[in-house]
Amino acid sequence: MKKFLITLSLALCGLAHAQMAPADPSLFKALGEKAGLVRLVDDFTTRLLADGRTAPQFKETKIPHFKEMLVDQFCQVSGGPCAYKGADMKAAHANLDIAKRDFNALVEILQQSMDAQGIAFGAQNRLLAQLAPMHREVITVK
Ligand code: HEM
Repeated sequence: MKKFLITLSLALCGLAHAQMAPADPSLFKALGEKAGLVRLVDDFTTRLLADGRTAPQFKETKIPHFKEMLVDQFCQVSGGPCAYKGADMKAAHANLDIAKRDFNALVEILQQSMDAQGIAFGAQNRLLAQLAPMHREVITVK
């Protein structure tokens, strides 16, 4: 029983840790803080809507709300002083039939956008590393 409780509390600590924003704000700073994230998300969204691979998915989306949510999410995962209050990733993407190729297209477009914003390669990779595991919730079709 004791062993079970220790295992359970370790598992819960791991879960809490995974869901907490990183305490280190260095990535948030490297992304240009809140103003840099607003510029990045503006440019990224413009590219998503102009790209034939991703635009169709956004035809029903309220773009100002989407941008606001994405800024908060990027701010939180990069260690900034924000709390993402949007839908969880599974619920947000549930009816969109997103395949692996759609996910890869979005990542490629985000990289182009980060390049265009002059974000350092190391910071780009750190942000992508925070987002990559979300593929499990976002991709719903083969
Ligand atoms: C790591 C990858 C991704 C992240 C971090 C992400 C993040 C987000 C966030 C934060 C929202 C807002 C949720 C809300 O409104 O509460 C959202 C919504 C949305 N995402 Fe993603 N997303 C990802 C992948 C994708 C992909 C691959 C597509 C399709 C190509 C996509 C299409 C959409 C659309 C269309 C919405 C708006 C849904 C609606 O209108 O309610 N996302 N996403």
